[in-house]
Amino acid sequence: MTNKLEFLKEALKLKQTLIDWRRHLHEHPELSFQEYETSKFIINKLVHLDFELQHPISKTGIVAILHGEEPGPTVALRADMDALPIQDGKEKRYASKREGIAHLCGHDAHTAMLIGAAYLLHSQRPKKGNIKFIFQPAEEGFAGASEMVKEGVLDTPKVDVIAGLHVHPTAKTGEIAVAKGNATAFADSFDIEIIGEGGHAAHPHLSVDSIPIAAEIVSSLQQIVSRTTDPLTPTVLTIGKISGGYKRNVIAPSVKLEGTVRLLDRDQRKDMMKKMEQYIQGICGGMGATYTFRYVSGYPAVKNEEKLIPILHKASEKILGSNKLTIVQPSMGGEDFSYYTEKVPGIFFRLGIFNDEKECIYPNHHPLFDVDEDALPFGSALLAQFAMEYLNNE
Ligand code: NI
Repeated sequence: MTNKLEFLKEALKLKQTLIDWRRHLHEHPELSFQEYETSKFIINKLVHLDFELQHPISKTGIVAILHGEEPGPTVALRADMDALPIQDGKEKRYASKREGIAHLCGHDAHTAMLIGAAYLLHSQRPKKGNIKFIFQPAEEGFAGASEMVKEGVLDTPKVDVIAGLHVHPTAKTGEIAVAKGNATAFADSFDIEIIGEGGHAAHPHLSVDSIPIAAEIVSSLQQIVSRTTDPLTPTVLTIGKISGGYKRNVIAPSVKLEGTVRLLDRDQRKDMMKKMEQYIQGICGGMGATYTFRYVSGYPAVKNEEKLIPILHKASEKILGSNKLTIVQPSMGGEDFSYYTEKVPGIFFRLGIFNDEKECIYPNHHPLFDVDEDALPFGSALLAQFAMEYLNNE
């Protein structure tokens, strides 16, 4: 039967294979909804296991189902597969071979670890119930999870709980972290265009200069957070891009602002949208400009099911040893795993990959982000152990 050392022992035997898989994917990254080669790679690794394979789902997604000896509950394990449109800054042998595309969020590691978990569970088939392995496309801003849910990946057999992990340099290799309740934030986006009137820089009174209006809006929107929002309600408003104007001696006729809002509370969304529009309208109106404003609701917040934390804790004790799981505050980042947790109870945790000596110290999405590959067997074993703990518990 499954016990502590088996999954870990087996995963450690698989370590070099996990590293090879991860490096292959790392060298050949693909953008959201274009993970065709990645998808082929995964199928190739799974096809000789006697799992029920479903693909393609949502272009490049794959579901593999391991049926236990008897019917019972179904636990799903999920990995995302896409890379980012960023140039890899690493000078390692396994650096990205594709110009301007790289796995700088670790989804290559997620995919490799989930294939690994499938191998571990294949050799220790559950007595009762099913395990569903979900490889999903397009986590990076394109809501691949939402598409997969629409395609019915949580049905037939109906998923009872789902688990997923994300590599994270805020935890050391050999440790994990999990938040109670909200794990990530509602991640919304907005676009503002301020429309003034162009003219000669020397005669501002004959035009409507959209640049000082933009400056006013940038600083005023921060007041929504600092002056009108309950300080005990985490809220972030960031303007990440400003564009407008032609040259130094021309009054800019229009300016575009692009930004994001992060919240932990769904009800706060409407309020935020309304307040932003009031501020923009007031400032533009007072200064003689018009505007357009578009607020787009993005990924919902990932909700961790309280009841699953003890199960993760148990898995962590068995695989990593005692006191390796830390309870952390939610991240204000976004994650489309939320589309699953909106439908079924789930748990999403951070797998530590921080390693000073190997320069695995950079945050996700940094050009030098890298994964301490010693963490790969831990990830596979944790996912396998979690699934087994859940099924044995039920
Ligand atoms: Ni990610």
